[in-house]
Amino acid sequence: MNNLENSRVFVSHLEAEHRRLDQAVTQVKESMSPGDAPAIPLSSTNQVLGLLEELRLQLIHHFHDEEQEGCLDEAACRCPSVSDEAKRVRHEHVELLSELDEIILTMKLESKLHESLTNITSRFQDFAHTLRQHEAAETRVIESVFGSEED
Ligand SMILES: [Fe+2]
Ligand SMILES: [Fe+2]
Repeated sequence: MNNLENSRVFVSHLEAEHRRLDQAVTQVKESMSPGDAPAIPLSSTNQVLGLLEELRLQLIHHFHDEEQEGCLDEAACRCPSVSDEAKRVRHEHVELLSELDEIILTMKLESKLHESLTNITSRFQDFAHTLRQHEAAETRVIESVFGSEED
């Protein structure tokens, strides 16, 4: 396969991964507020933590793939006009992972102290929003250079 073919394969893989991550985020959100409960019920703490840890592992793997496959770097090389945006989204990986780590740690501490877990839900909503914006920006960069799955 030549470089362009490799890149098209990677675009399909990336888009499938983004859909999978989106499902994992939705699963966490649903586990946090069963029946639209305002705070995470203490009885759900372990389940929510398990899903958060799974999401964390998926994200580590996903970000590693994006960085090692070099698709963002290649997009920046082929099309210098997207270079700044490619760099910006790449740097967001560290921030996103560190925020998710904080959420997990805070939830562990608060559930041990039997404190209200209301803030965790809204903090995770903010995280999910930032992650969605990140993935959308990344998809725009990649598709503007290599085309989309439908092309
Ligand atoms: Fe990314
Ligand atoms: Fe991504």
